[in-house]
Amino acid sequence: MKKKILITGGAGFLSQNLFIYLKDYFKLYLTFNNSKPKISKEFFVKCNLENYLQIKKTVEIIKPDYIINTAGLTDVEKCELNKNKAYNQNVNIIVNLCNLCKKYNIKLIHISTDHIFDGKKSFYSENDKAFPLNRYAKTKFIAEKKIKKYLSNYIIIRSNFFGWDINKSKKFFSWLIDNLNAKKNIKLYSDVFFTPVSSYFLSLVLKKLIKEDFKGLINVSSNERISKYHFGILISKIFLFKKTLIKKIKYKDINIKIKRPLDMSLSNKFLKKKFKIKVPSIKNQLKKIFEQRFEGSFDTINPIIQYGKHHIDNKDIQSVTNIMKNAPIAQSKEIEKFENNIANFVGAKYAVAVSSCSAGMHLACKVLNLNNKNNLITSPISFVSTANSALHCGSKISFADIDKNTLNITSQTISNLTEGNSRNNVFLPVHFGGNPSNTKSIFNSFKRNKIIEDAAHSFGAKYDNGRMVGSCDYSDMTVFSFHPVKTITTAEGGVITTNNNDYYEKLRVLRSHGIVKDKKYFNNRKSHGPWYYEVSSLSNHYRINDLQCALGNSQLEKVEKFVNKRRKLAEFYFAEFSKFKNLRVGQKFNENSSYHLFILRIDFNKIKKTRTEIMKILRARGIGSQVHYIPIPMHPLYKKINNQNINKELPNALKYYKEALSIPIFYDLSYNNQKNIINIFKDIIE
Ligand SMILES: Cc1ncc(COP(=O)(O)O)c(C=O)c1O
Repeated sequence: MKKKILITGGAGFLSQNLFIYLKDYFKLYLTFNNSKPKISKEFFVKCNLENYLQIKKTVEIIKPDYIINTAGLTDVEKCELNKNKAYNQNVNIIVNLCNLCKKYNIKLIHISTDHIFDGKKSFYSENDKAFPLNRYAKTKFIAEKKIKKYLSNYIIIRSNFFGWDINKSKKFFSWLIDNLNAKKNIKLYSDVFFTPVSSYFLSLVLKKLIKEDFKGLINVSSNERISKYHFGILISKIFLFKKTLIKKIKYKDINIKIKRPLDMSLSNKFLKKKFKIKVPSIKNQLKKIFEQRFEGSFDTINPIIQYGKHHIDNKDIQSVTNIMKNAPIAQSKEIEKFENNIANFVGAKYAVAVSSCSAGMHLACKVLNLNNKNNLITSPISFVSTANSALHCGSKISFADIDKNTLNITSQTISNLTEGNSRNNVFLPVHFGGNPSNTKSIFNSFKRNKIIEDAAHSFGAKYDNGRMVGSCDYSDMTVFSFHPVKTITTAEGGVITTNNNDYYEKLRVLRSHGIVKDKKYFNNRKSHGPWYYEVSSLSNHYRINDLQCALGNSQLEKVEKFVNKRRKLAEFYFAEFSKFKNLRVGQKFNENSSYHLFILRIDFNKIKKTRTEIMKILRARGIGSQVHYIPIPMHPLYKKINNQNINKELPNALKYYKEALSIPIFYDLSYNNQKNIINIFKDIIE
């Protein structure tokens, strides 16, 4: 059974970091008072730590094996200004916890500070005499003394730590990152020294101390003594900020009334000797947490800006709750309403809503009776389900190259294929990134062939003639996606539009297991009774539900607003990125695109950085990015079944794949966010 730990000060930086690092090893509970921790509710408990009865009740309910105290008032200025508050939070809480730990035989782990010395020497050991210079230090030192007096089973950790913060601009590390990101000049002391560790390293040590049942006082610090200025320089190197933003100042030259120790460095000799722990350099600790940002472990407490995101407003919520309260939630009228709305919006006769675009494309292929005599020709630069939809039907698959500028397949690249002109071909052009492909030209060049449009990215986009994508003027069917990153969302979902009544009827049957309810289509002349339905073709469950469609109906009212904002964001990116020497924009600007994606093309060899490095730096600086897509014929499944020579036949697609990187574009992205993104590229590429 996992040991239980109650962590006080649950909404704070350290406790949330400890939560992330220790949650797999212990059963954790975090206390909060006013501000809630940004983690799942089941782990936190409301409790005012200054109120003995409240904390007592909490302890009696949870029955922890350990209490880790991270609570306290750490702001040195605030402690000086409000002495009572400092005493209450830094001492009285500890007295309450000591009483309870003694009463219920709980081990107390208290996080103290490196601030309690006078700073006249370096590398203070556990045995050096404390000499607190200010109120904060005094209260922290009193707390240590109280613990030693009341308890025998305790750990006091003196440390100074850095890591990903929850609320921006609070702790030194986040303050540095935020300001450097915003290209603000910052002043850092070159005469104030410390030995900080990452919150990750601290949590590793904590785990060990618990495991080995250590009792007493211990420093958890790094090997190197570093000035605040050099710490800033180290961060700028790893995160690729401009070093020149950091200015050197001396604490001694500044007239600050509150006394502070100028040297807070702590010796880690005892830690290393007793526990045989190797302490990584500060640089390596920084690199480790830089990597952890890329792995995504901190996204819950400190979200990054993703490449795409939905926008939900109160009307959407009302629309869904209205159906929940007042109407059937599946197989009912809201779906029909959504289908009518979609058909009207795109200017097609019919629309059939389904569970996803992938499901819709599979159904479209089934309706066209694709089989092993057919060859589906599509784009190599697409999500894999584009090709899978035909593969499910047993069809052969070929890939036509993309055009360098539009990134779409064209009638020309289709004709370039050996079998490009066969009558058994079915075409599945993708309107990549929201930029409509020239379906009219494909239609005119291959009159005998069927065409399905993959419009997953292009709801709200228009063809050159001003008609909406989805009107099916030059295709048999068009399929859209309403996944959350798309123009509008139904959480998950898709729709097929068509002008062909026969396709429409078949799609409706096939989206629901192949079930036929209309007696005019029955094979058996005689119905068994009013419950009778027939299945004469194999299909599956591909239905969307009424709740999703209620969201879709409400989202549809905002589609123009969504597309306009995306276009404006794209315009700004175009203007700014066209000034760059070492990158270019992936697709030509097109007034008619729905701007689902904004893609940069970067010659990574030329800039001497890999795409992974760039993605890591973006992420460490709060920005998500993505690669759309790994060419489908490169996937092992397609390597097995497709014998095209992709190097020879798909040169544009392969070159594109080497260079592509999608950056954020979505309705709620602000111009400041964009400026920040552009600035990061200036730092790392130019
Ligand atoms: C080009 C393309 N086609 C099809 C799909 C599949 O969409 P869905 O997730 O709705 O099945 C996607 C998904 O992102 C896509 O990008």
